[in-house]
Amino acid sequence: MALSLETATAVITGGVSGLGYAVAKLIVKKGGQVALLDLDRERGAQAAQALGDRALFTYCDVTSEERIDQAVAETIEQFGEISLTVNCAGIVSGHRVVGREEVISVDDFKRHIDINLTGTFLVCRSVANAMQFNQPRGEDKARGVIVNTASIAAFDGQIGQVSYAASKGGVASMTLPLAREFAVFGVRVVAIAPGVFATPMFGRYPESARQGLVADTPYPQRAGDPDEFAALVAHIYENPMLNGEVIRLDGALRMPPKIGNHE
Ligand SMILES: NC(=O)c1ccc[n+]([C@@H]2O[C@H](COP(=O)([O-])OP(=O)(O)OC[C@H]3O[C@@H](n4cnc5c(N)ncnc54)[C@H](O)[C@@H]3O)[C@@H](O)[C@H]2O)c1
Repeated sequence: MALSLETATAVITGGVSGLGYAVAKLIVKKGGQVALLDLDRERGAQAAQALGDRALFTYCDVTSEERIDQAVAETIEQFGEISLTVNCAGIVSGHRVVGREEVISVDDFKRHIDINLTGTFLVCRSVANAMQFNQPRGEDKARGVIVNTASIAAFDGQIGQVSYAASKGGVASMTLPLAREFAVFGVRVVAIAPGVFATPMFGRYPESARQGLVADTPYPQRAGDPDEFAALVAHIYENPMLNGEVIRLDGALRMPPKIGNHE
């Protein structure tokens, strides 16, 4: 049998909130099992309880290679193998590079790279190492799927998004070389580049920024529902020909240089 969510054993980073949690809910609903890797212990405990026996929470900071490897080992001990990994752990903050107001610090720039980009890379490496030993499934001998979360800021980053856009550009660019390398053991790698989605992260944007981004989204003119993101992850997992691609999921939003400024 080819890969199906009903039998998926998934690791989801950032899995206790927003997009990651929506993916976890869908997998559990379909019959699969999920390990939620996140920094937020309180939400983690609540999420695992709400999802029931097919879910576990394990504390993991994706900047720690050691902690990632431990979490991957714990998940395999519990589920037998990892067939799907969804990288949703991420942060966003915004500052201009030069100017009279507060500008971005080197530490802030590095923090975005460490969490959003290096964290994604470390998780990909750790799970791919494990996935190569999975039992191959179906006529394509599939061993697993990795879905990384980029952002449309990888392509149309706005003024103030330098650190975030650079980190997400890296996530997008990693997709093809990872897919090419992992092809030999039947592991696919796909990235999703979301537009705006109604999650706690988006909720922390100033009201004017939220309204501006929604107004700039041609159709449907609203923030995406995290369940729509989860539906795409499910499709990627179950469609064997999707590989090495970055898929925009954005209602045709192309962000202008500045929020509310289309020049
Ligand atoms: N919501 C959007 O509009 C949107 C748009 C484009 C891209 N994204 C990306 O989607 C992903 C998920 O975002 P979301 O909107 O669900 O945000 P969210 O803030 O709701 O969830 C992010 C999760 O990541 C966790 N996290 C942060 N740093 C971590 C670390 N070092 N180690 C482990 N976990 C960590 C947080 O605790 C949180 O649970 C992010 O990578 C984000 O950049 C979101």
